Amino acid sequence: MQRKALIAANWKMHTTSASARKLAEDVAKTWNGGEDREVLLAPPFTVLKEVASALAGTDIILAGQNVCWEEQGAYTGEISPTMLKDSGATAAIIGHSERRQLFGEDDAMINKRLRGALAFDLLPILCCGETLTERENGKTFNVLETQIRQALADVAQADIASVVIAYEPVWAIGTGKTATTEQAQEAHGFLRRLIEKLYKKNIAEQMRILYGGSVKPANVDELMQQTDIDGALVGGAALDAESFGRIINFS
Ligand code: PGA
Repeated sequence: MQRKALIAANWKMHTTSASARKLAEDVAKTWNGGEDREVLLAPPFTVLKEVASALAGTDIILAGQNVCWEEQGAYTGEISPTMLKDSGATAAIIGHSERRQLFGEDDAMINKRLRGALAFDLLPILCCGETLTERENGKTFNVLETQIRQALADVAQADIASVVIAYEPVWAIGTGKTATTEQAQEAHGFLRRLIEKLYKKNIAEQMRILYGGSVKPANVDELMQQTDIDGALVGGAALDAESFGRIINFS
């Protein structure tokens, strides 16, 4: 089964209006297009509209870096699915390890966010991944299984195939340490078999699983050659249009 690759940029807490516009325009200039791949940018909420306008006329997808499950209400500091859509986004990152580790988001909350995104037709990019201690203690697969089972709890079977999973080993994020292609493929293979076990083989085969953690021009081609790696979630290297341009046009 041929899955369309997805290369996603997570700009994290970087850029203001002018720099965001420039970066989005520069990325759009480097994008050669392609039937076999999609590109997505997740800038900070404050510049979504700016980036939406810079991307007008391109097929680059716009995403929020998080999303609340409610449409409106007393949720100080949150952003609703409707607000994201109003700003031009059609996707949202959910459960990033920085949200889990620095802001205390747990699997139950991530499940609510994911179901909220699906209810409002936002494409969810669900992040999972183990810490270095968990890996060293041989707990990688247990951690991934718990995170995925809990995040996908009560998600309708019909919706599962439209969820994108991003495997991001916490120890490889922003550290310059990439998982080896073997480590990444092993985790991706495990995740695909888990989806098959929880749902159906055809759903598992359709599901896109991205790798994230120090993806850069020098390692993207090899990562993308792995059977179960369907794309990348890129942080640091996505803040430079030339690097990200090289990544989205991987061979
Ligand atoms: P990095 O971040 O590419 O800077 O390691 C990836 C991410 O956190 O999504």
